[in-house]
Amino acid sequence: MRWALGAMLFCLCTQVMATSEQQAMRVVGDAIVAPLSDVTGSAEEGEQIFAARDTGHCVLCHQVSGLDAPFQGNIGPALSGIGDRLSPAQIRLRIADASLLNAQTIMPSYYLIEGLHRVDERYRGRTALSGAQIEHLVAYLAQLRSHKQ
Ligand code: HEC
Repeated sequence: MRWALGAMLFCLCTQVMATSEQQAMRVVGDAIVAPLSDVTGSAEEGEQIFAARDTGHCVLCHQVSGLDAPFQGNIGPALSGIGDRLSPAQIRLRIADASLLNAQTIMPSYYLIEGLHRVDERYRGRTALSGAQIEHLVAYLAQLRSHKQ
């Protein structure tokens, strides 16, 4: 609970959030169908969160061709054209809690309020994302199609 409050405060300080409520995740298969926020995802904001060191910093591990961000990592799979392979609901689950699919994954669970023991020290209580931030990321990644690369 203390972690959740800390994360909420962190998000409030860095991002404009419409709500600080943690919404329940309803997992269906390998997807989360319902949005995690009432805020409509914006691909432009998602791109910024994806690249920004102080928010998602997804480029630490993932590369997207055409994205204007230096030093893109390759610890995780390249996400160019990910919108061809995964639905928005599947992308949402992988950002919210990738450990549901692979308990050993090194990808941080960005929408968990407990069970954070697998998260690297550097990320603990710091880079967890709000529901709105995740919706922006989903909007950004879902429109990455191979014909756009
Ligand atoms: C510490 C490294 C790391 C970071 C940071 C990270 N990821 Fe990942 N991600 C991975 C790895 C590794 C996988 C492969 C899944 C597995 O481990 O089973 C993955 C998988 C994914 C997938 C599924 C890809 C596919 O082809 O199925 C998506 C989508 C994704 N990550 C999005 C993100 C987003 C968005 C962020 C930032 C909020 C992020 N990741 C941050 C390591 C990372």
